[in-house]
Amino acid sequence: MKTLILISIMILSLAACNNGGSGNNKSGSETTTDSTKGSSVRRETWGTVDGKEVYLFTLTSQNGFEAKISNYGGLITSLKVPGRDGTANIVLGFDSLKGYLQKDVPYFGALIGRYGNRIAKGRFTLRDEAFTLAVNNGENHLHGGLKGFDKVVWDATPVEDASNPGLELKYLSKDGEEGYAGNLNVTVRYTLTAQNELQVEYDATTDKATPVNLTQHSYFNLTGDPSKDILEHTLTINADKYTPVDKGLIPTGELKDVKGTPFDFTTPHKIGERIAKVEGGYDHNWVLNKATDPMRLVATLADSASGRKIEVYTTEPGLQFYSGNFLDGTLAGSDGKPFNKHAGLCLETQHFPNSPNQPSFPSTVLQPGDKYHTITKYKLITQ
Ligand code: GLA
Repeated sequence: MKTLILISIMILSLAACNNGGSGNNKSGSETTTDSTKGSSVRRETWGTVDGKEVYLFTLTSQNGFEAKISNYGGLITSLKVPGRDGTANIVLGFDSLKGYLQKDVPYFGALIGRYGNRIAKGRFTLRDEAFTLAVNNGENHLHGGLKGFDKVVWDATPVEDASNPGLELKYLSKDGEEGYAGNLNVTVRYTLTAQNELQVEYDATTDKATPVNLTQHSYFNLTGDPSKDILEHTLTINADKYTPVDKGLIPTGELKDVKGTPFDFTTPHKIGERIAKVEGGYDHNWVLNKATDPMRLVATLADSASGRKIEVYTTEPGLQFYSGNFLDGTLAGSDGKPFNKHAGLCLETQHFPNSPNQPSFPSTVLQPGDKYHTITKYKLITQ
């Protein structure tokens, strides 16, 4: 029988809290520890947004892996993974809430919704009803609109599973938000497993038909040093096809073979090897190969220098590989080092962009009574 001793400690005076732009002087942290296994979930006050409390949670697994996650935007602000050169944070982000409240932060570590990626001109028709969404990327709708799920405060509950510390986040996206129909109840559960995986589980229900496409927008840099670019990282994507795009990065509708193109990552390639042949850099959706198990390995990212490697598993049909092309050094990390072009890369598991306007793509429409449920796992490996 599993004997768990859960100790909750309230540390009121020793709060290591960074107050956010909107200011909050309350300090406090709370830790739930499993003394038998050494895993824990610690909560710090981080500030307030929209009059709501924002926290930073530190999940530590029994193997010493650590993820810092905020209920603001569901942000992963830090993910510490051992390498041959020691333990390092492998995601781009900031130490303080204030960092994330700056203008034009490009979704660092954020949960994305109601619709990850682009919907052309912010328009689509569902059962003869025309919808107009907020437009925030040229003439297109991107990552849920002006105030997507990355900019809202979620309700957070630590998950006290001794072997697998977690955080459950809930958000009600109201009927009409950013132009979408239906009250969408969303739950995202982050878990740091005993197998050294960061698992993200997405669930949603609605009371009116609506497109839903949830994803995670962490920028990885396995060197742990964002002043180095990711062009030397090696990437594998288990996809024989991708969705070519127009100038506005909207898929043309074609599913094109990767064979013989710079999009062929079916065998490992360095990201920098062929990037010059891709106008603007990689920012495309790959059509992931299917397997008997819907939860299959879809991508592997490795940095030979540090020995750090990530394997991505998902139930989703697509993967946006974005090579951080729009990072331009305007924003700097909390250590003052700028996030330059290609300082990080995203592997966004998803349905295909603009699916609401492409009947041939797998449907993203969630119907009332149906359950949206997807899982993505990032397995953290040191070689
Ligand atoms: C996604 C998009 C990119 C870019 C980034 C944020 O990955 O596909 O084009 O908008 O988000 O900068």
